[in-house]
Amino acid sequence: MYTLLLTCRASFSYFCPAMIDQQTIDRIMDAANIVDVVSEFVTLRRRGVNFVGLCPFHTDKTPSFYVSPAKNICKCFSCGEGGTVVHFIMKHEQLAYPDALRYLAKKYNIEIPERALSDQEKQQQDDRQSMLIINTWAQQYFSSNLLEHEEGRIIGLAYFRERGFREDIIRKFRLGYCLDRRDALYQEAIRKGYQHTFLEKTGLISVYEDGSIHDRFRARIIFPIHTLSGKVVAFGGRTLLKDGKIAKYVNSPESELYHKSNELYGLFFARQAITRADRCYLVEGYTDVISMHQAGIENVVASSGTSLTQGQIRLIRRFTSNITILYDGDPAGIKAAFRGIDMLLEEGLNVKVLLLPDGEDPDSFARQHNASAFIDFITRNETDFIRFKTRLLLDQAGNDPLQRTTLITDILRSIAVIPDNIARSVYLRECSAILEVDERILLNEINKIRLSSKHSQISPTPPVEANHHAPSLATEGASSLQTNPATANFEPFEKALVRYIIRYGNHELYNYSSENTIEKVSLSVTQYIRHELEADDLTFHTPLYQIIFEEALAHDKTEGFDPSRYFLSYPNDTISRLAAELLSDKYSLSKVHFRFREEETEADKLPLLVPKDIFALKNAHIEHRRKQVLTLLKDAQVLNDHHRVTELFDQLTELDKFKGYINKGLGERIILKM
Ligand code: CTP
Ligand code: MN
Repeated sequence: MYTLLLTCRASFSYFCPAMIDQQTIDRIMDAANIVDVVSEFVTLRRRGVNFVGLCPFHTDKTPSFYVSPAKNICKCFSCGEGGTVVHFIMKHEQLAYPDALRYLAKKYNIEIPERALSDQEKQQQDDRQSMLIINTWAQQYFSSNLLEHEEGRIIGLAYFRERGFREDIIRKFRLGYCLDRRDALYQEAIRKGYQHTFLEKTGLISVYEDGSIHDRFRARIIFPIHTLSGKVVAFGGRTLLKDGKIAKYVNSPESELYHKSNELYGLFFARQAITRADRCYLVEGYTDVISMHQAGIENVVASSGTSLTQGQIRLIRRFTSNITILYDGDPAGIKAAFRGIDMLLEEGLNVKVLLLPDGEDPDSFARQHNASAFIDFITRNETDFIRFKTRLLLDQAGNDPLQRTTLITDILRSIAVIPDNIARSVYLRECSAILEVDERILLNEINKIRLSSKHSQISPTPPVEANHHAPSLATEGASSLQTNPATANFEPFEKALVRYIIRYGNHELYNYSSENTIEKVSLSVTQYIRHELEADDLTFHTPLYQIIFEEALAHDKTEGFDPSRYFLSYPNDTISRLAAELLSDKYSLSKVHFRFREEETEADKLPLLVPKDIFALKNAHIEHRRKQVLTLLKDAQVLNDHHRVTELFDQLTELDKFKGYINKGLGERIILKM
């Protein structure tokens, strides 16, 4: 035991050459504020004593990421990621433990006493770090070439000025220039002690087959590409020659440091403005971003000429779900806009499109208009994607019926990927109006597309007729909700309800006069739960809970019945223990039902809390049933059993309708829970 401990310690310090002493770690942890740290990357909104936002670690459609300032921790209730400030930074910035501490130390101006690294330790630093250091240096080198070097000023700076870029903007975006020499950067880097390997890995130099070394960005103006947290991971270099033979832009290659598909140009400078405006403008190029900033519009990012990736869209989604695509009005721009749209829709974003006047791009347009004129133009001309796409394709197709059919399918494909049922229905209706095609026919087509798409998970769109009164699970095939308990886990949801029964079963939950009768109706918590479960033909699947429920019901009408006392002294040991557990204030069970709020206020909030937990249980049942139906549906499709497909289809539609109703009830649930 003793020796084992010793070896562990030895190897630990071996792998952490520059160790941070405990005292410093404590100081960092004391200083770091979780809300502060997280909100640098996630837009947080206050919810009671906590803050919530979209989880940065998975595709989060509704805010599941909770931050508790009181406990100084964060947690995603959907994917489970979270922890302390250090855990958050480690995961988010992909840093090792000591580096996450260093990150925080820097943020809070805490000095870490560290000895200088030895040569051997330097060697040990991982590639990523070294590449980052070199890029940071190179960025400064390019900037000083632009602003201080004669060649840079005469050629690079003059070019930027000619384009109308102000000096403050040039500095803000840390623009630069790479001298027109074969290997000036390389020579300077080596002189400063940077290693050849990392110059090559970052792509700052290219090594030709004959062994000669060339600066990659020779004679180009430089656009550094920053990560969300402001690190320089790559560069874009634009030639100043009009020579069509050489590439207009040269970019850093993919590397351990730079994954093009996960970065968005300008996001580092835009994120606060995006949050403020709750909208993100998407443009194509570096210069579009910069010119718009200069004009005063800062909530803008660029996809850098390629179509958007899912990773990039998720980056945007952390800050807003509203996006306006600004593209040139030429055919290429329109094509690019189309490419992006489906992916954005698929990720649940609200997409608007704005085509600029022919021959203009955001860069040229921004140079001729100030922010308010530009924004005014945008608000007057942006169209939601469906109108945009429909109008455009309609123009192309004219009255040719064949072309019209292709066009309709094309548009329906876009609508089909929208994850939100309601949004999908709204678009469907709009599409039907513009195309003058019956909504039900379109709906049918969409459902076909959805079922045959790669997302076998997705459900068909519910019928469009608005159904305002709450449908009941017990109507349309009541037994369809009776799920197979063997494979479903409703236990945590049921436990929450049993907890109410034991703690507050006799509390009066509702006291109202019904419309039709003069008599007053009063329901206890236990009665209310019975009422709700019976309405949907549900029982507790956990036998123990069912027993407690039935016991509580049996005594509910008894004068002075106190469920807490009753179950605490229950002869059956398992039940009395459970009662004790549920009555203790320490009860902070599963992720689902863990609460930060004060216990005292709970009794007052029962009319809100109990229904929400009922909804949660019902929701779990629906989810489970939906999965079963989808499996059956796949089988039926394989067997080409059309009758069965239709039947299952109807079931799904019914479940979805119900789910919509449940979701409304669940909407605010999270406020009270954590
Ligand atoms: N792009 C690229 N490689 C190319 C061409 C373009 O990476 N060979 C990317 C760049 O990120 C560029 C964007 O696509 O910013 C848009 O291209 P383009 O409109 O040609 O460039 P602009 O940024 O508008 O540059 P400029 O206004 O100077 O022509
Ligand atoms: Mn341009």
